[in-house]
Amino acid sequence: MKLWGGRFTKETDQLVNNFNASISFDQKFYRQDIRGSIAHATMLGKQGIISEAESNQIIDGLNGILSDIENGTLTITDEYEDIHTFMEATLIERIGDVGKKLHTGRSRNDQVALDMRLYTRDEVLNMDNELKELLAVILRLMKENTETYMPGFTHLQKAQPVTVAHHFGAYFEMFKRDRSRLHDIYERMNYCPLGAGALAGTTYPLDRELTANLLDFYGPTLNSMDSVSDRDYLIEFLSALSTIMMHLSRFSEEICIWNSNEYKFIELDDAYSTGSSIMPQKKNPDIAELVRGKTGRVYGALMSLLTTMKGIPLAYNKDMQEDKELSFDAIDTVKGCVSLFKGMIDTMRFNPKRMEDSAKHGFTNATDAADYLVKNGVPFRDAHGIVGQLVLMCIDKGIALDDLSLEEYRSVSPVFNEDIYEAISLKTCVEKRLTLGAPGPEVMKKVIAAYDEYMSEN
Ligand code: ARG
Repeated sequence: MKLWGGRFTKETDQLVNNFNASISFDQKFYRQDIRGSIAHATMLGKQGIISEAESNQIIDGLNGILSDIENGTLTITDEYEDIHTFMEATLIERIGDVGKKLHTGRSRNDQVALDMRLYTRDEVLNMDNELKELLAVILRLMKENTETYMPGFTHLQKAQPVTVAHHFGAYFEMFKRDRSRLHDIYERMNYCPLGAGALAGTTYPLDRELTANLLDFYGPTLNSMDSVSDRDYLIEFLSALSTIMMHLSRFSEEICIWNSNEYKFIELDDAYSTGSSIMPQKKNPDIAELVRGKTGRVYGALMSLLTTMKGIPLAYNKDMQEDKELSFDAIDTVKGCVSLFKGMIDTMRFNPKRMEDSAKHGFTNATDAADYLVKNGVPFRDAHGIVGQLVLMCIDKGIALDDLSLEEYRSVSPVFNEDIYEAISLKTCVEKRLTLGAPGPEVMKKVIAAYDEYMSEN
């Protein structure tokens, strides 16, 4: 069955049918399609465009279709062009000619614009929940590790000591911003395109405020041509998803490095690792690698839709059907990645001894040695040079700054005294960093308290 055979004298070529059809993927939003149709039918009845009795019959029919799809007695089959055609045909088959009145004052253009928006809106909320669960795991790990020392890196070279809580806190901030991006998108997209018709509204007295209300939108959209051809909200969502993946990918890369034989900062749980078909000793971080790898796929969806939309004249064009498969794929991919990543970090074990030793042996306290001289009256630039010489001496001897004797210190600068050892101990280096946002456990506890508040309010 087709919704548009009347003006044609020939059958559509089968290859054209196949190329044109979208039912294989747009059946994913059958619930949203039914929900939109129920709102439309309710409004048609209230406005007297069809009778109340007809409206009720249509709504009952649609509810019946919904429950039969859900309980498995009705299957959506590929012989229809799209989910809209399937719904209308099934409705007419079930309730007869009254079903033919459902599409009064509506076009598939505003129908699909509505369905996709409803689907996306649900997924924005689902994604927000997934991220919140990830944040809860990160926050737990932060609370347990405010005094777990590790080296902080720049250029992947040991720089200054930090804590696991501090490092994970950086990701808490990133995913918190990702959630706030989703909230912004929700605010902008939450307007209802239903009633825009094909592109120019209709002459029926539709109540667009009512349908917008029934579908939990803030209100109706204000331009019918824009309503049927706007996919900005989807581009924004794909962009937010790409940023989430970029964050997850960086984190995954660190997991791979920390889990490597050379670092051994962490050990992934067996349940989240995989083996090799040939090398019996292998335990690989495949999940982290896959998350990193799938990032490209999500970026691809964003670039694809941006490119699809760039040359489309107003209003609806069939190009826009291409918004679906790649968006569905990107949404499912990101949801899967966030959830698996969460499980992976929730079950991995830290190796605090390895991390602390690593922080001790990489001159991560060199800045603190220079700061010690500054506090004793040496200008910072001179202090930098003095400690540079000491580092060179240590490299020569294969030891850490902590291992130099006081004589050796004094041979480069007489300013050094016995208290240098205390000043450059790992504990001092971390605990004295008490500026807001720094790793010092005291200030970190304040930040954690702020995160607890954020989690209970958002
Ligand atoms: N499957 C179509 C899409 O996804 C539905 C809208 C069809 N509208 C039309 N004028 N052919 O865009």
